[in-house]
Amino acid sequence: MIRLLIVDDISSTRENLQKLLSFEDDIEVAGTASDGREALEAAHRLQPDIVLTDVNMPVMDGIQLTETLASELPTSPVIIMSVQGERDYLRRAMQAGAREFLIKPFSHDELVAAIRRVYQLEQKKGTFLAKTMPAQPETPAAPRGAGPAEVILVFSGKGGVGKSVIATNLAVALAEESKSRVALVDLDLQFGDVGILFNLDHSRSITELVDGSSGIDDESLREVLANGPAGVKVLLAPISPELADLVTAEHVRTIIAELRRSFDYVVVDSSSHLTEFNLEVIELAQRVLVVTALTIPAIKDAKLTLKVLESLSVDPEKTLLVVNRVDGYADFNQESIEQSLRTPVAVQIPHDPRVVGDAITRGVPFVTAHADTEVSRALRELVSHLLPEGAAAAAPEAGDRDRKRRKGLFGR
Ligand SMILES: Nc1ncnc2c1ncn2[C@@H]1O[C@H](COP(=O)(O)OP(=O)(O)OP(=O)(O)O)[C@@H](O)[C@H]1O
Ligand SMILES: [Mg+2]
Repeated sequence: MIRLLIVDDISSTRENLQKLLSFEDDIEVAGTASDGREALEAAHRLQPDIVLTDVNMPVMDGIQLTETLASELPTSPVIIMSVQGERDYLRRAMQAGAREFLIKPFSHDELVAAIRRVYQLEQKKGTFLAKTMPAQPETPAAPRGAGPAEVILVFSGKGGVGKSVIATNLAVALAEESKSRVALVDLDLQFGDVGILFNLDHSRSITELVDGSSGIDDESLREVLANGPAGVKVLLAPISPELADLVTAEHVRTIIAELRRSFDYVVVDSSSHLTEFNLEVIELAQRVLVVTALTIPAIKDAKLTLKVLESLSVDPEKTLLVVNRVDGYADFNQESIEQSLRTPVAVQIPHDPRVVGDAITRGVPFVTAHADTEVSRALRELVSHLLPEGAAAAAPEAGDRDRKRRKGLFGR
C-alpha cells in the first residue's frame, strides 16, 4: 500500500483527488490537509509514503512545505501539483526537493503513474543507500582551452518517440560532419538503450564514476567512457535500473562540466520524465531537442513539454522541435503541428522501420550503415541546425528538398 497525504487549500480538489485514487488497489489516502503547516503536522503524525501537494496555499505554501519535509521527514517524498503559468514554481519545486510535478489539469493515469514512480524509486533508494553512499564530487574548476562544449539534450515528454535512436545517430553524424570530439551521455539512468544501440560492452558505466571510490575528474571519466562508432565516447547508463539511484543531480552536473572541457559536443539522451536530472540538463544545455511523433498523445506531451520549458524561462531559441516517424498516414502535417505547438518544426525524420530496425538489430547507427537514405539525410539536416552558421551551409548531402524546407523554416 502506498500511503498518501493530499495537501490542497481547495476542499473540492482534495475530494476529487481522493475519489480518483479510491479506484487504485495499491494507493491509500492516509490523510488530507489544507495548507503547508497543517500538512507538516499531519506528515509527522501519519508518516506518509508520499505527499501530494498544491503550490499556492495560505499559511505555508507547497514549496516551503517541500523544503521543510526534505529536511525533517526525508522518507516522505513530495509530488507537486501546479497550474500552468506559475512561472518559476517548477524550478523552485525541484530545487526544494520535489520528486515529480504534475501540471494541472492532469489525467488519472498521469497522477497514478507519478505516484507509483516516486514510490518505487524511494523503495529502491532505501535498499541501495544502505549499501553504498555516493561520493561527494569535487566542484569543477573553470573551463579551460577553446571554450566548453555545447550540450545538446534530446528530450521528450512521451516515451518511445525515438529519443535514443536520434541521440545515438545524431552523435555519430555530428562527429562525422563536424570532425569534432563528441561525447554521448545516456541519462536514461534506469532503462538506457545507448549500450544496445551501439552494441557496447556494458562493463563500464556511470555507476563506476559515482560509486565513491574516486572523484569525478578527467582521468576517471576517460576510464569509464566506452568507444562508440565514429570516435564518439559514450557514458553508459547503469547496467541495472536500481543502480540509477546512486546518481545524484550533483554528479550529473559535475560529469557534464568535466565533459564540456574535453569535448566539442556533449549529446545527452534522457528519460521522458521531468526529473531533477533532466531539469538540471535543460538548464545546462545550449540546445534542447524536443522530440515528438505524429500521434495525438505525443503531440499533447510535446505541447506540455514546451509549456514547461517556457515556464522555466528556457530561451525558445535554444529549443528545436524534431518530429520523428513521419509518414503519409498521420492526421497531422507540419503546418498543423506548428499551429498546435506554436513552434516551428526544425526537422522531420521519416518513419523507416526497415532501415532503423536493421541498424538497431546490428547495433550500428543508420547514419553510417545506411547513409544514403531519407532518415540519414534528415539526421544530417538536424546536424546542420546544430553546427555554427557557416558549417551548416556546407552540409554536403542535404538535397534540394531539405534546403527548401530549411529556408521555409527560417523564413518564419
Ligand atoms: N524514424 C523511425 N522510423 C522507424 N522506427 C523508428 C524511428 N525512430 C524510432 N523508431 C522505433 O521506435 C522505437 C523507440 O525508439 P527509441 O528507443 O529511440 O525511443 P525513446 O524515445 O528513446 O524511448 P524511451 O522513452 O523508452 O527511452 C525504436 O525501437 C525504433 O524501432
Ligand atoms: Mg530511450
